[in-house]
Amino acid sequence: MIEPHGGKLISRYEPDFDHRSISLEVELDGVSLSNLYCIGIGAFSPLQGFMSRDDYMSVLETMKLKDGTVWSLPIVLPIKKELRAELSSGTKVKLIHNEDIYGVLEVEETYEINLENEAQAVYNTRDEKHPGVARLMKQSNIYVSGPVTLIKLPELQFMDYQLTPAEVRSKITELGWKTVVGFQTRNPVHRAHEYIQKCALEMVDGLLLHPLVGETKAGDVPADLRMQSYEVLLKKYYPTNRTLLSCFPAAMRYAGPKEAVFHAIVRKNYGCSHFIVGRDHAGVGDYYGTYEAQEIFGNFTKEEIGIELLFFEHAFYCNVCCAIATYKTCPHDEGDKLILSGTKVREMLRKGITPPAEFSRREVIDVLIEGMKES
Ligand code: ADX
Repeated sequence: MIEPHGGKLISRYEPDFDHRSISLEVELDGVSLSNLYCIGIGAFSPLQGFMSRDDYMSVLETMKLKDGTVWSLPIVLPIKKELRAELSSGTKVKLIHNEDIYGVLEVEETYEINLENEAQAVYNTRDEKHPGVARLMKQSNIYVSGPVTLIKLPELQFMDYQLTPAEVRSKITELGWKTVVGFQTRNPVHRAHEYIQKCALEMVDGLLLHPLVGETKAGDVPADLRMQSYEVLLKKYYPTNRTLLSCFPAAMRYAGPKEAVFHAIVRKNYGCSHFIVGRDHAGVGDYYGTYEAQEIFGNFTKEEIGIELLFFEHAFYCNVCCAIATYKTCPHDEGDKLILSGTKVREMLRKGITPPAEFSRREVIDVLIEGMKES
């Protein structure tokens, strides 16, 4: 099986860790909690904790950690300014969320950063209408770094699908797959998604449908509803022995190209040999070019990335082909094309319009309509 990113699968989960002598506390928001969780279970291997200033600067400037390992997004822990004086090197702090202790951090250093510079480097914009920038600008510009221990797993819904990288790897072995394609999504799976997944499945042994279930922006379909929609879709339209559904507990950044690199390398940790990048991967609005998330991989050698990328053109339904196609395979006029996107499905559902079968499987739509009624 493919090696984890950086060569070793990290595990920082120690449920019996004795934290009773530690009095200092840092409060985590939802994103920091999901970062702690992802580091703890090895999803973010080779990271063992929150990034030091050197790694942070190196990631912003070169998309690599200080040691040269590709890493495109900062994984950092913002803290309240007034806490800084208490956090000297070697100090241990409890990591708290909603009064529960989820982990411990051993302080390496604290450092001050410039939020606008981070926004520009990560999102390529300082526009606060960008959901990633908006979130960043609200947080503290003081970060604390150091290795973490995860003590408690966040309680999430659909626990059956909360597999750690090690657990996904052992499932892959059980299923006997030699090659596995990872598919990232924050949307219900529509027909264009299905098309590119199945094109990939023609080439590899198995598909890991790996929906992101950490924080997403308002307006995205909530993860629990999406999980139900994936279940019905897989049951009816995908070969059981060639498909695995599991959650990716990270938060969505909407950082487009840089997030695509991040999404690809961390899927190596889950045992994927291949990864799909389609149109405007992890994009939002018009901030990124349609294929920028594919072009960015040109900055790295194959060895540096280490996972095989499967790039797909914009897929749509063609009324003349009577099939999903792309500009690579369909010669017909623009007027014959039904352009599919998650945003469009969400818009239609919000307006009470049932998206056509060419757009989305009926079973998926039924789940979404039902779920939206309840919410
Ligand atoms: S993402 O933010 O998680 O990337 P989404 O769930 O819409 O958003 O996309 C999942 C994957 O499918 C991404 O790789 C994206 O590029 C790809 N994709 C989405 N829609 C299309 C489409 N119509 N044609 C080709 N690729 C697509």
